[in-house]
Amino acid sequence: MTLKLQIIHYPHPTLRHVSKPVKRVDADLHEMVAQMFALMYEHEGVGLAANQVDLPYRLFVANPTGDPNNKEAEFTFINPVLKAGKGQVEGEEGCLSIPGVKGQVVRKEKITIEAYNLRGEQFVGELDGLFARIVQHETDHLDGKLFIDRLPPVQAAELRDELEEFEIDFQSRRDCGELPGDDSIAERLRELEQQRA
Ligand code: CO
Repeated sequence: MTLKLQIIHYPHPTLRHVSKPVKRVDADLHEMVAQMFALMYEHEGVGLAANQVDLPYRLFVANPTGDPNNKEAEFTFINPVLKAGKGQVEGEEGCLSIPGVKGQVVRKEKITIEAYNLRGEQFVGELDGLFARIVQHETDHLDGKLFIDRLPPVQAAELRDELEEFEIDFQSRRDCGELPGDDSIAERLRELEQQRA
């Protein structure tokens, strides 16, 4: 695979794309996941969803310790489905696609998630604490949702100026031809979906 993945930033339209389940786990998918872990660590994150690297596939990577040396804490969730959830808890979140922006988000305290791993085996995770929060944040990504969508109106209003900076930056990168238009982004996602979704 020659694809060189990069993290895209708000308001890139791929972040609003609803991801499609992948049909097979092969060498190319392993390579994508390896690049995603590398990018996640490089930017000091604890989770990264495929559409944050401009891919339309339903998968994300996570390491709740954030420690690249802790391989036992690395998890790849392929075609994840959130099942039961219990309780509510508020906590601070940020996002590698909106660097520097933080907000308090209410999530389920405990969740159950079903997914496939890199060996193509199904597993069930019963999670709480930070890991439960990460998994809910990343699953949201796959549905085209960002944590800023879940902020109460007052908090969202406080972040308005910061988000506008991202919007201005995105538009100026488009104006100078550094980023493609909506149509070519959509076309590329369709092609990638035909390849493996
Ligand atoms: Co995020």
